[in-house]
Amino acid sequence: MATTDDVERGADQQAKSLLGSRLDRFDDVILNLYSHYWPPVPAFSGLPDQLAEYLNTPRPERATMLARLRGDEAHERFLHESLAEIYAYLYKYRDGAATQESHDDIEIDLLTAKIELERELLNHWLGRLDLPVFPDQNSAADHLDEFAESNPGVGHPLFAYLADEAPRWQLDMFLRGETIRNEVVDDEVAMLVVGMQGAQKAVVAANLWDECGRGKLENFHTFWLRRLIEASDGGWAGFHRQRARNPWFAKITSNMNAMLLSRPAWNQMAYGCFLVFESWVEPHFRHLLRAMDRHGVEDPDVRIYFAAHVAVDPRHSRELSDGMRFQRPTLSSREVAEIVRGAHMAAEAGRRQYDKWLTYFQQAADPHDLRSSGSDTGLAERPSRGSLGAD
Ligand SMILES: [Fe+2]
Ligand SMILES: [Fe+2]
Repeated sequence: MATTDDVERGADQQAKSLLGSRLDRFDDVILNLYSHYWPPVPAFSGLPDQLAEYLNTPRPERATMLARLRGDEAHERFLHESLAEIYAYLYKYRDGAATQESHDDIEIDLLTAKIELERELLNHWLGRLDLPVFPDQNSAADHLDEFAESNPGVGHPLFAYLADEAPRWQLDMFLRGETIRNEVVDDEVAMLVVGMQGAQKAVVAANLWDECGRGKLENFHTFWLRRLIEASDGGWAGFHRQRARNPWFAKITSNMNAMLLSRPAWNQMAYGCFLVFESWVEPHFRHLLRAMDRHGVEDPDVRIYFAAHVAVDPRHSRELSDGMRFQRPTLSSREVAEIVRGAHMAAEAGRRQYDKWLTYFQQAADPHDLRSSGSDTGLAERPSRGSLGAD
């Protein structure tokens, strides 16, 4: 039974603004960095040819088209590039189709293709995973704490390679990829809030509040990415030019996350997926900071995003596993299994993405190779224009 004191304490807590005067206290540096559109994406200029071709194919023939591609890199590349294009629409920014003006026909087409391509991704790209089974949320949370330290993505050799061997241009390229991968993290967290309840919702909402700088514009995590872009070679214009060179496989983990976040029945999988993504940030970023040390990159504007996350994300991942432990009503066995499944899907997606980065870096000896063999290395600026129906 609530007492009058309880009611007053609740009302008192809520009467104080979390923002206070944070919104109007900023200097010219902050103002200047906030003058750039975020995320740093170009305006939508049409769908990639292969996705347009897919959308123009009658639905019964689409399955045959996809089946013909399976087993080839063209299959995974088409799935990930197309889904990334569709997710750009869901995130509502200017690079997505129908985000500036609604367009019923295009949106129906994109959402239909989304569900078809996600099914293809699950059944024929990801495939079956061997998953452990747990009797309750506590034992599953203990497993996830352990899995966070032992899964194949967390200690992936890509990061030792970046720390100890990668030349400077590869480090720069990977940092650019990390900027792109993290440019809408606050939106990803916001999508995870929807449909959660109790402890899980509190944990995710607190994570979102951190992402949004706890109300301070200069502490938005994406603000640290703005500082990184501003401090990088070529600044914002250079970033926009180089963005098109981000390889298709750099989208794998973001796509996995967006897929789970945008399917109502897969929300608990999204929670498990996010837990794994948060938990490997600290070990990965320590390696990136070591790579910066080796190359003499001391500029705090370049380092801050990575240094800050080394401090913040171990807490975020602990809170996510606690959110699972303390969730009431207790999670059903189906929900527990889904969180575990999502965590293992994230680890597998990460492993594949990092495998591809490592192979790519080891095969492309210098930037000149990138220019001469773009289509072989996945660096062509747009999806290859070959016909989807070709054998
Ligand atoms: Fe963050
Ligand atoms: Fe985080």
